[in-house]
Amino acid sequence: MSKDINKKLLANYLIYGFLFPNADIYGGSAKSWDLGSHGTELKRKLKDLWWKYFITTNPHNLGSDSLIFTHPKVLESSGHLKNFHDWLIECLNCQKRYRLDNLISAEEFAAFLIQEDKQNFTILKNCPRCGRNKLTNPRQFNLLLSSDLQITDQGKEKIVYLRPETCQGIFINFAAIQRSTRKKLPFGVGQIGKSFRNEITLRHGIFRTREFEQMELEFFIQPGESEKWWEHWNQKAWDFLYMLINDKEKIKQVPLNQDELPHYAKKTTDLCFKYHFGWGELCSISDRGDYDLKNHSEKSGEKLEVKGTIPCVIEVSFGVERLMLALLEDGYQREIVENSEGGTTEREVLKLHPLLAPYFVAIIPWNKQEQLQEKACQIYQELLNETSFTTTYEESKWIGKSYHRQDAIGTYYCLTVDSQTLNDDTVTIRERDNLKQIRLPRQEVAQFFNQKYYHHYQEFKSKEVKI
Ligand code: GAP
Repeated sequence: MSKDINKKLLANYLIYGFLFPNADIYGGSAKSWDLGSHGTELKRKLKDLWWKYFITTNPHNLGSDSLIFTHPKVLESSGHLKNFHDWLIECLNCQKRYRLDNLISAEEFAAFLIQEDKQNFTILKNCPRCGRNKLTNPRQFNLLLSSDLQITDQGKEKIVYLRPETCQGIFINFAAIQRSTRKKLPFGVGQIGKSFRNEITLRHGIFRTREFEQMELEFFIQPGESEKWWEHWNQKAWDFLYMLINDKEKIKQVPLNQDELPHYAKKTTDLCFKYHFGWGELCSISDRGDYDLKNHSEKSGEKLEVKGTIPCVIEVSFGVERLMLALLEDGYQREIVENSEGGTTEREVLKLHPLLAPYFVAIIPWNKQEQLQEKACQIYQELLNETSFTTTYEESKWIGKSYHRQDAIGTYYCLTVDSQTLNDDTVTIRERDNLKQIRLPRQEVAQFFNQKYYHHYQEFKSKEVKI
């Protein structure tokens, strides 16, 4: 199992069903992760919220769902075959592989990039792991992953690539999307899906993996309007992140210098989170100009334009797993709270935004008494029928244990069925963060939770945060 992710956090993610090491029963494959049930719910909700926020509630924007397998010509035109690489150094003694920019300072790396003779690189003498003077010269390592589909229609084998970013599917379909929806500029197309990169090193759990998901918006505009729309989408992306993170000191914007820009971008700002290992990028907002549509137009011969003009593009690109990791690290808290005997106790709680909590509501009988369990199951079924948020059922010998478990996975409300419920058909509702409890007639609970859920979304959507 991977040792590089903070052990306490990892134990928590494992115990509470967020992350599992992939293929663990066979000894696990190095540093790759599956999601447990709670991780799956968190991810699904994050993607739903992004989609609602950036696509369905925005009058300009539409969705797209293109293939992962990508024709080599697409990535030739987009510049990925030539330019999508990292600088690799290997140790010939212990076989450890390094990304050069992770081994040396940002200034040293910038100096290396402008150095003409890259073979003569002398900053590093010895391998940081084995200490031997056996490091290779840096060489360019292309990050594209390919698949040999063995298509033999003309007796030929065919290589396809696994897309390294979801947006290329949007660019190559641009004319078809615009024609079929009759959209005028400006308009945006969003896509959520898997991307693949042959990363030299895998690090920090789900922070850097070879298979991950992106949530991307490509916003097509008239040339000359880039600054205005870049500001607009930069603000929107920041608001989205700001609303989800409790500790605002842990997020910041980092504008990239010219020499740090990706090959397609004129301007990029990264949104970064302070992870347990330090600051890391989780979203990039880029002005891609007309780079993509122009190149695909020229190389394919298809006109990718609106009324004779090739649009420019502003892009917002979030990594789903990196945002999830930030939410888990930011949300996990240990706090001292009052207990029912008037003393204090420490509780573990995952303060996820209520719209992202794996369960919005947990139904809990006070103890294992059969009548309480029956009643609780009825209410559980009623909520499943009458609401669309996620609800779960939890029972244990002791109510405190159930609260502990639900707090630790971030459940926002606990609904408790106790002996009073059997007399007057009322239940207790406990809120995760402030631990306030109210008593409500059972017939009112579905409406109560529906209203709360709606309210949380309205509040989320309407916030604009000063950058
Ligand atoms: N289309 C633009 C684009 O792909 P990027 O900065 O290369 O830009 C966008 O990637 C986001 O995708 C990053 O901010 C990060 O959240 C996520 N991402 C990139 N590589 C990743 C990897 N190897 N593992 C996990 N997430 C990754």
